[in-house]
This record gives sequence, structure tokens and C-alpha cells, in this order.
Amino acid sequence: MGFAPQPAIPPRLWPVREERLQQLRSRLLAPADADAVMGLREQVLSDLPHPDLYVREDDEPGFVHLHLARKDARGGETIGVFDADRLVAYAMLGLPAAGDADNLARYFPAHVASPARTAHLASCMVLKPYRGHHLQRMLLVARIALGQAHGRSFFVAMVSLHNHASRHNMMREGMRIGWVGQIDGLKRQLLAIEPDGDWRFDAVERHLVDGQDWQGQSELTRRGCWGVAHQDLRGDADRLVFLRRTA
Ligand SMILES: CC(C)(COP(=O)(O)OP(=O)(O)OC[C@H]1O[C@@H](n2cnc3c(N)ncnc32)[C@H](O)[C@@H]1OP(=O)(O)O)[C@@H](O)C(=O)NCCC(=O)NCCS
Repeated sequence: MGFAPQPAIPPRLWPVREERLQQLRSRLLAPADADAVMGLREQVLSDLPHPDLYVREDDEPGFVHLHLARKDARGGETIGVFDADRLVAYAMLGLPAAGDADNLARYFPAHVASPARTAHLASCMVLKPYRGHHLQRMLLVARIALGQAHGRSFFVAMVSLHNHASRHNMMREGMRIGWVGQIDGLKRQLLAIEPDGDWRFDAVERHLVDGQDWQGQSELTRRGCWGVAHQDLRGDADRLVFLRRTA
């Protein structure tokens, strides 16, 4: 696949159209849904094609409860997707406080991300029979809208370098790779989007990096470059295009 350099690539949210989604229903989950979320996580995590795609939380119940809507919405919220009464997908929005040690804004320069306005596009899982209908992308857009309602304007997601499907879906929705390195010993990319931002990139300084070369990518993000596109090679191999961000 070729890549035509562009002078500016503003993040954009693309509408998701998928008729099969119409038979599913979604709603915000509550603490009473915790067992259903943990059951779905168990099912997906016990069947991952690569162990690094998603690593279990140290405290699974604590992590799930943190993201279930409470009256004060502290911690976060989770959108659940149901086929009749069965939870078939979920997506979590993390709403960290500005001073939280795990606020992902701290991986970006202060002029790029304000911790008080940062939200996390946290875990999203879809049961196998329901994959292939762009549910992750629909849930990405829905979470960004939800986060904006909470006053957040900068959204960050953490992705394993092996998670091609997730990175692809996020980049299709306009997310860009702004930081690469190790978090808790795991090699991770941080993808971000600022829906009302006017990000600009210098198409002249263009770098092609192997999708698994986390050190090369890390070095580029330290120099102010962002991963803006990817080129699929054979199998799960890919190459990422990094451009220097100018605004
Ligand atoms: C990641 C996940 C949520 C995506 O589910 P989904 O919404 O059904 O995703 P879809 O299958 O509809 O995505 C389809 C897109 O991904 C692309 N895709 C799928 N596998 C891919 C791969 N290995 N490499 C690149 N792109 C891939 C498809 O080509 C398609 O793109 P297109 O619309 O541009 O053609 C789901 O696979 C899942 O639950 N995985 C396990 C848990 C996980 O990894 N979650 C993410 C981190 S929390």
C-alpha cells in the first residue's frame, strides 16, 4: 500500500456505518454488571493469539469496578454492548484525576497534553462471534463523545506493538502514535487524539519504521515525531510512517 504524504493531517472522527450493529443494544454499565464484564474478559483473555496483546490487570475486580459508572463518575465509565441479555462487547473510558500517578498525560510534553483534560481510552473487548463489524471503532467514537461530556479533550490509548487490529482501528479513527516505550516492563505505544485540535505535520521529514522496532519508534517520538499512518506488509508485519509534528 502506498502512502501519499500530506502537509497536514488533522485528527478526524469517521462515522461508522454497519447495519448488523442495529440488532445490538448498548448502555452504560453499572456496578451490578461487574460479573458480566469479568466473564467476558476471562473468555477473551484465555483465547488471545499473542500473550502480549493484553496482559491481565494485577487486580482484575478492582480494575473493572474502577470503570463502572458511579454517581460521581470518578475513575471512569464503561459502555456495554448486548445481544438480547448477553454482554458481547465492552469499552472502558478512564477519567483519571489530574494528579493521579497513572494519568497518561505525563508521557507527553505539557504543551501537548493537560492532565486535567486527559481521558483514557482503556480496555475494549469484543467476543469472537461479534468481531468484524467495526464495534471497536463505534465504541471509540462513543467513548470520545462521552469523555467530551466529562470535559476531557485529549484522549490516550495504550496498545501492544503486536495488536495490529487495535492500532489499525484507532488510526482509522484519526488517532496518532505520540509516545513509544516501556510501561510496567511492557513495550507499548500511546496513541492520542484531540478532536478539536488542529495538529499539523511536516511531510518533508518522513520516517519509515518497522512496526516492531519499538526503540526506533521511541527515539522518533522523543524527537517530536508522531506515527501517522501504517503500511501493511505480508501477514502481521507492518511499517509505520512517522512525521514531525509542527503544531
Ligand atoms: C481488537 C478488537 C476489540 C477488535 O474487534 P472489532 O471491533 O470486531 O474489530 P474488527 O474486526 O471489526 O476490525 C476490523 C478492522 O481491523 C482490521 N484488522 C483485523 N485484523 C488485523 C490485523 N491483524 N492487522 C491489521 N488490521 C487488522 C480489518 O482489516 C478491519 O479494517 P478495515 O475496516 O479497515 O478493513 C477485538 O479483536 C478483540 O476483542 N481483541 C482481543 C482484545 C483486545 O486486543 N482488545 C484491544 C486492547 S484492550
